[in-house]
Amino acid sequence: MDHIKSYIDQNQQRFLDELLQLLRIPSVSADSKFKEDVLRAAVYLQDALKDVGVDHVEICPTAGYPIVYAEKIVDPSLPTVLVYGHYDVQPADPYELWDSPPFEPVIKDDKIYARGACDDKGQLYMHIKALEIMMQGGQPPCNIKFMLEGEEEVGSGNLEIFVRENAERLAADVILISDTAILSNDTPSITVGLRGLSYVEVELIGPNRDLHSGVYGGAVANPINTLCQMIASLVDEQGKITIPGFYDRVQELTTEQRADMAKAPFDLEAYQEELDIATIQGEEGYSTIERTGIRPTLDVNGIWGGYTGEGAKTVLPSKAYAKISMRLVPDQDHEEITALFTQHFESIAPNSVKIKVTPHHGGQPAVTPTDSIAFKAASRAFEDAWGKKPIPTRDGGSIPIVALFEEVLGLQTVLFGFGLDSDAIHSPNESYGVFNYLKGIETIVLFHKHFAAAKGN
Ligand code: BES
Ligand code: MN
Ligand code: MN
Repeated sequence: MDHIKSYIDQNQQRFLDELLQLLRIPSVSADSKFKEDVLRAAVYLQDALKDVGVDHVEICPTAGYPIVYAEKIVDPSLPTVLVYGHYDVQPADPYELWDSPPFEPVIKDDKIYARGACDDKGQLYMHIKALEIMMQGGQPPCNIKFMLEGEEEVGSGNLEIFVRENAERLAADVILISDTAILSNDTPSITVGLRGLSYVEVELIGPNRDLHSGVYGGAVANPINTLCQMIASLVDEQGKITIPGFYDRVQELTTEQRADMAKAPFDLEAYQEELDIATIQGEEGYSTIERTGIRPTLDVNGIWGGYTGEGAKTVLPSKAYAKISMRLVPDQDHEEITALFTQHFESIAPNSVKIKVTPHHGGQPAVTPTDSIAFKAASRAFEDAWGKKPIPTRDGGSIPIVALFEEVLGLQTVLFGFGLDSDAIHSPNESYGVFNYLKGIETIVLFHKHFAAAKGN
């Protein structure tokens, strides 16, 4: 164990430099203007994997961005870990809210600031450096495969085909993903649940052209006003979603399970202070941790129409739009929820507007086991490296491929993330702690050790 720490100490600067170089590549999958950069990130990872000594690495083309696949097979009779991560990042907009440019990473107050620092380049790169360390003693204690995709932030549309077509090659004993958060650096945790996602865009069409809001206002229904009323009606005063059937498949937790969840430390005051909000809000009868962990939600992600430029333009708009996301919990099904939403939204639309609902990507919720050899190995790795037993938590975010891996490969996942909620992923000034990066590398090495030992017996 000490040799792991001393190796990290001695190579800390290079480990950071290599990550910073990856962070300089603006691999934004959502915006085609960054296409060459996304491809460059894949090549960078291919080279990084080659450098640490995998026996095989290739860039596998898909209909979209490629998948970087690599293998270090020590001995086919040993257990195999399949590492998944994503090298694409969210758009960095709005750029003006960043204190330093999103693709010119800086280290300040022991944090690495850049788009993708935590989500997910910093976290996936830990696995490559962990392999480097394991190669020092000769070989890792188990076989390791890497599958790094470039389309996670846009719905992993081509990953499913890849996984289905390569199921045999991807054979493993467990999937390891570092793309989630821990509670805090004093309270390590392992994510055991992720929410699913249904994402829709709605369009309301009123009069056949934009109208003068004085000449017509008051006599013709305004699609933006109508959209606001419709959206407002989707969540009631108790914070319950009003779409019929929405809760039908929601698994209610037992009193014991909820009591267990409540053991995780949570400081409401600090939470509000960090977000600069005077109060919290959500479904009645549930705590904040429950509201994000085990309850479904509905949120407007964007709403637009009419005039939003400088100054005032008096206009009664012809059209109104909104993007709406619903986070789902077991056993809700994202396709069913999208259908229920569409049906309901159409049914509440007044005659004054025509309506169009367009589904975007979605994903199923997932829970991962806590009684598996892999989970126990992960737990032990945390105990060794952090001196504390990690708490199981349910995260509110979504990684749709977790459910897919289980379905197609029959494999369970360990969500071995080291980020913090305060890392501001998807926001301006995203960061990742230098401590978390280096400690994560150490913890990953220990995971492989414990997993190989326990699995080998
Ligand atoms: N890494 C996140 C998901 C995440 C964040 C899980 C924090 C748990 C804690 C992932 O990259 C992500 O952003 N997922 C998207 C869904 C995807 C389909 C675009 C999300 O959750 O919005
Ligand atoms: Mn991610
Ligand atoms: Mn993300």
